[in-house]
Amino acid sequence: MEILIVDGGGRLHGDVRVDGAKNASLPIMAASILISGDACINRVPDLVDVQTMSLLLQSLGADVSRSEGTLQIDTRRVTGHHADYELVRRMRASVCVLGPLLARFGRASVSLPGGCNIGHRPIDLHLKGLTALGADLRIERGYVVAESTQLRGADVFLGGPSGSTVTGTCNVMTAACLAKGRTVIRAAACEPEVADLGRFLNAAGACISGLGSSTIEITGVEELASVTHTVVPDRIEAATFAIAAAATRGSISIHDVLPSQMTSVLDALRAIGVDIQVAPDRVDIATSGDLTGVELAALPFPGIPTDTQAQFMALLTTVPGVSVVTDRVFPDRFIHASELVRMGARIRREGASVVIDGGGQLTGTSVMASDLRASAALVVAALAADGESQIRRIYHLDRGYAHLEQKLTRLGAKVIRR
Ligand code: EPU
Repeated sequence: MEILIVDGGGRLHGDVRVDGAKNASLPIMAASILISGDACINRVPDLVDVQTMSLLLQSLGADVSRSEGTLQIDTRRVTGHHADYELVRRMRASVCVLGPLLARFGRASVSLPGGCNIGHRPIDLHLKGLTALGADLRIERGYVVAESTQLRGADVFLGGPSGSTVTGTCNVMTAACLAKGRTVIRAAACEPEVADLGRFLNAAGACISGLGSSTIEITGVEELASVTHTVVPDRIEAATFAIAAAATRGSISIHDVLPSQMTSVLDALRAIGVDIQVAPDRVDIATSGDLTGVELAALPFPGIPTDTQAQFMALLTTVPGVSVVTDRVFPDRFIHASELVRMGARIRREGASVVIDGGGQLTGTSVMASDLRASAALVVAALAADGESQIRRIYHLDRGYAHLEQKLTRLGAKVIRR
């Protein structure tokens, strides 16, 4: 199994370009099932999760091809409606095919995704939304089996105990595109990736308004036609580079980003003492002065993304003073804390938060990645640490960061894969 070896202690400097967003690409690929024609999707990142979604679409009968960053998906010959456990267990986002399959074929059988290292991840809200549209849903031998003769628009509240649901909103919004009449999704996810999916669907002929807000309205149409779309920048990848630069006290420029989608992250970095300049598609990060500990909480958009919580934790272990990190989206997403402790961090869990006594020098050692963003946090810590770190189970990283070691090497880091 491959490991990443990081020789830490150097400052990151230079320029980096971010890819298209993983969490927009995956639901957009799934939604191509609805299109009676070709979907041409630009700026799709070269990730294992994208390969998994391609395999899933191919297993249903779709033609999927890739040239550079562009995916061509033709779902005209799709006849399958069964998403098998073998593929779904590799990637939870596979559940995004549920709404599109149901809307196109009137039936879908999608494996329940199973356990996850970032905490409890039910899909009850997906099921609630699709039931409101008139689907008949049951759980059979580990699969969600959904049927409907005609989906009908409905007024659906999709809020749960932790706020909105990103892929749940995607599933219901996509299914509603071909439902009869008007659907209103209340407490919809406002994440830019959900809005990007909506723009893709609108470009294909859907009628969706309110994208980016917590109330999304969809008027059903007869069919969706061929479409070309360019995926939004990956704000989580951009945030990871920004945080890594701060952790190494470096100075970098991050290109091809939308800073307006990163306000909470940039605000938190400024509160920590990082200097930030923004241009329309660029963020410049510099760390000239002292950094200080902060209290921060991961929340649904526009709050600090839970997908940056682990990286912020790694940064804050290097910052003098006490910091408190809380995750209100996935309250148990703290497995990385114990690996950071192995690198010398002083972190203790207190209920739904961790308290960090920051500012000590991290030291390189062997650490184990437990999920995608935990892996990113270990990379951030390893870049800031004194000496060599070996990060194991980096297949998690390849699910969400394309060409990470090449990009870091260009920023002056000493990183190799072995
Ligand atoms: N929730 C429910 N019921 C549901 C669905 C969710 O209670 O039916 C709860 C979850 O347990 C959680 C909260 O609602 O507490 C938010 O979960 P959400 O459904 O929004 O998460 P998701 O759609 O499964 C997406 C991203 C995750 C990201 C979360 C939160 C994709 C493919 N995945 O997951 O990305 O952490 O939203 O922003 O879009 C990652 O990229 O590393 C990653 C895990």
